[in-house]
Amino acid sequence: MDEFVNKTWDKINRKMLTVAPRSKDKLPYITVNGVFDNYYPGCPSWWTNGFWGGLMWLMYADTKNELYKEVALRSEELLDAALKDYDQLHHDVGFMWHITSGVNYRLTGNKDARIKALNMANLLAARYNINGRYIRAWNSFGTEDNTGWSIIDSMMNIPLLYWASDEVKDERYRIIAISHADTVMKVHIRDDGSVRHIVENDIVEGGLVDDFGGQGYDKGSSWSRGQAWAIYGFVLSYIHTGKQEYLDTAKKVALYFISCVCDEWVPKCDFRCPKEPVYYDTSAGAIAACGLIEIANLVGEFEKDLYLNAALKILKATEERFCDWSLDTDNILTHATEAYHADRHHISMIYADYYFVEAIYKLRGNKELFW
Ligand code: GLY
Repeated sequence: MDEFVNKTWDKINRKMLTVAPRSKDKLPYITVNGVFDNYYPGCPSWWTNGFWGGLMWLMYADTKNELYKEVALRSEELLDAALKDYDQLHHDVGFMWHITSGVNYRLTGNKDARIKALNMANLLAARYNINGRYIRAWNSFGTEDNTGWSIIDSMMNIPLLYWASDEVKDERYRIIAISHADTVMKVHIRDDGSVRHIVENDIVEGGLVDDFGGQGYDKGSSWSRGQAWAIYGFVLSYIHTGKQEYLDTAKKVALYFISCVCDEWVPKCDFRCPKEPVYYDTSAGAIAACGLIEIANLVGEFEKDLYLNAALKILKATEERFCDWSLDTDNILTHATEAYHADRHHISMIYADYYFVEAIYKLRGNKELFW
């Protein structure tokens, strides 16, 4: 393991030393012909706009190279434009600010960054529906009524609330996060360990009204990135609360995920879809690997290898088949997929790179938890 991890980290660092300076004024989402696009200033509130800054903080936390810190700070400045785009913000403020301003504060003590992260925790907490006991996901798109919607991705947003409770010594944020996680456990996780992407909750009584395939193949299918959000999200909720059900849920979804991916260790975009066409999603593998590594750190010695070996197999298969180490291109991973029915499959996406790097960062023994 150590040889793979260290060699891969060296490749990451070599590439990022070249990519970081030339991308410092961007909030990238995907690459076009190998070059990062830029969501600043056109779309500052896009949900993935924190990942480039977060990636730079991962690099800084491991290497202490000031270049990475400078680029991370610049990225946070660009992200400030989203504060003015306030009515476009929704539950993904966790993705956006927890690994940018939140990590900035935790690593450097920067007071402005702390205030930004706390403001975003307030925004996220305010999306909680007290009667339905869930955090509303998105704002309305056009005429569609999505006030009752929660989505599995939310499990990665609520660590911002656990942090805020600890930071201001007020349990309100944690109470909201736990209530939401309990609802997600009930309405999103199926008995067989597969996961519903989008659920419509009863806004008055709580409980499942309907569910939708979302970014997966169809209703009743199993969008692999959603499974991965559940694995990592529930193990994080366990880490922040100690609630055993969360670890049990993370393990249940993890075992399901492992059983679906063990043919070639690179997830398809959906685990329940027609055999053809084949759409891979390397981002799902990278996210799941982060969760599997955390589970391996928490279970007993006779269970640990199951999760750790699965994480390693995913990362190795991804590295062998779907990593681009050329210094001429900006992305690391290839073959990520936005959604089963999207126009774009097998593209690079900034968060696929982020989670791949985070998984390798963890395997190097780095202890600072970004979420
Ligand atoms: N959070 C949206 C996605 O995973 O694509």
